[in-house]
Amino acid sequence: MDAAIEISGLSFRYPDGTLALDDINLSVEAGERLALIGPNGAGKSTLMLHLNGLLHGSGSICVLGMPLSESTVKAIRRRVGLVFQNPDDQLFMPTVFDEVAFAAVNAGHPEVEVRRRVSESLEAVGMGWAEHKSPTDLSLGQKKRVAIASVLVTDNEVLVLDEPSAGLDPRGRRELIALLDGFPCTMIIATHDLDLASQLCTRMAVMAEGRILRDGPPVEILADESFLRDAGL
Ligand SMILES: Nc1ncnc2c1ncn2[C@@H]1O[C@H](COP(=O)(O)OP(=O)(O)O)[C@@H](O)[C@H]1O
Ligand SMILES: [Mg+2]
Repeated sequence: MDAAIEISGLSFRYPDGTLALDDINLSVEAGERLALIGPNGAGKSTLMLHLNGLLHGSGSICVLGMPLSESTVKAIRRRVGLVFQNPDDQLFMPTVFDEVAFAAVNAGHPEVEVRRRVSESLEAVGMGWAEHKSPTDLSLGQKKRVAIASVLVTDNEVLVLDEPSAGLDPRGRRELIALLDGFPCTMIIATHDLDLASQLCTRMAVMAEGRILRDGPPVEILADESFLRDAGL
């Protein structure tokens, strides 16, 4: 299989001096579902923001065979759907419809096709009823669903989801797991939800202090309680 994501020697420091990523090496095969776990501040969100070029560290990142650079970043963003940890960082349009339509319009789909895709994506996350609402008037869980719909609307080959189940109620969470389980694409999911990780993911990487401490099958890692405790989980 081809690697969907290939990261080597990636380090990143925020302007205030915080070393958030410290020599990350990670390869994710096409079709793999990787759970990224680790305590708050481990660097999970920072790593995800690198995958479509929103942050730039040193080292190299290759996405779907393309080395990430200024000349490839647009093409990469069209094929990698990133859902932010905080939906308020993502949602910016006046209505839910416009929000979800945005990427489909950008991808050049004709209007009828945009409408069809928006309806399908909103139905998939159970938010069809909210088309005409303003995203700012929704609850956190509802905003998260809209943010997910806004990446489902185009045919992404890679989905990068930052704490997708945080803030969802139990039913919303179960529906989210079932929804994601139905997608064939490569997924990287940062989460504290170990149950979601083990139900959905084929592989688990544990981060702490900007490094990947361990990488393997979820059953193996979750069985190692003393390791998880030492990692701050
Ligand atoms: N905008 C920022 N400026 C400075 N430091 C940041 C910023 N965002 C995150 N950090 C720091 O970078 C480290 C990694 O953070 P983050 O990637 O958000 O971790 P996680 O998503 O695993 O909780 C933490 O030490 C955090 O305090
Ligand atoms: Mg985070």
